[in-house]
Amino acid sequence: MNFEFYLPTEVIFGPGSLKRLGEIARRFGTKGLIITGKSSTKQNRALSRAIEYMKKSSIEEIIVFDEVEPNPSTKIVAKASELAIREKVDFIVGLGGGSSLDSAKAVSIVSANEGSAWDYVNYPEGPRLIPYIARPTILVPTTAGTGSEVNRYSVISNPARKEKLTIANSLLYPKASIIDPELTLSMDENLTATTGVDAFTHALEALTNKVEDFFASEIAIMAIRYINSWLKVAIEEPQNIKARTYMSYASMLAGIAIDRKRVALIHGLEHPVSAHYPQIAHADGLAALGPAITRFNYGSNQDAYALFAKLMGQEEKAHKAVDAHEKFLESVNKRISLKGLGVEKQSLERLAEDANYLAQRLIQINPRFATLEDIMSLYELAYEGG
Ligand SMILES: [Fe+2]
Repeated sequence: MNFEFYLPTEVIFGPGSLKRLGEIARRFGTKGLIITGKSSTKQNRALSRAIEYMKKSSIEEIIVFDEVEPNPSTKIVAKASELAIREKVDFIVGLGGGSSLDSAKAVSIVSANEGSAWDYVNYPEGPRLIPYIARPTILVPTTAGTGSEVNRYSVISNPARKEKLTIANSLLYPKASIIDPELTLSMDENLTATTGVDAFTHALEALTNKVEDFFASEIAIMAIRYINSWLKVAIEEPQNIKARTYMSYASMLAGIAIDRKRVALIHGLEHPVSAHYPQIAHADGLAALGPAITRFNYGSNQDAYALFAKLMGQEEKAHKAVDAHEKFLESVNKRISLKGLGVEKQSLERLAEDANYLAQRLIQINPRFATLEDIMSLYELAYEGG
């Protein structure tokens, strides 16, 4: 048995835990920057409550940057970083879905070092710059899926280059994460399903890829169990706090699992999709690509895929993993195709070339090595919903 574990993030988990934000934030100073999206945290009052709790704990000044969009870009990170530098903020609060959390993490590095977010992303040849310091971050997820609140990744898009890459650095671990499942109660059916599919895919890829880490695999197993039991309930009964709590928990577990084991080909092939089509939600791309890739992979790690099938309520046989993956997506209304998401057929070749270059690290740890031709046929299958 081998594993490594390092998670220097204080996690405060539980319904109602947002109330702790002020007290936690006060440890890092008196002037904070909240990074959030345009509307949902205003509509569900998460933003106003966050501000209220911080004010109660003598945070003197709170600046709000509310321009984060899905698939956050280098430009948004640069704009928020300028604000953080100009205002000399002591700490950053990321409040929202994965885009807000990833933006906050990128700003914590860019606003404390030189260059732009793109200098820190992991091209196959490595990042151009290595950060040496980061502003403290406190992350408050309002969805259940990203896992970003407990890992060292920030996924950033570069619209000019049509590329989406990850900053992976231990300085990106948040100082604290407040995971309050009550904040996810206002997610609609579609967002609940989409973000749940993200957590599910993190857990599946962490369980099955080639990285050996016993502890992270066990955590991924726990995540799969909870998602299989509770995602459908959360979709059907949006106010069911028990279902929401288990989904927040599963998302956190999956986020820890990928911190150690990373992801694999499904994420590797999704990133070029949402880089070229930023209107496509990350996990919708994962849903479209998932079954074809599970069919491609299962023979190369039969034990893990058989276990996955069993965890999903199927017979403990590797080939049953494909059924399990498809049925799960059907059950949450996410059996979708790249075509249905608006991907154009003529762009598949470009997507395959991008994935083959930019996702090479993930291709190497995928259960089965994928050549450029393999990648092209996987995109073609996913295009038709195969
Ligand atoms: Fe993901």
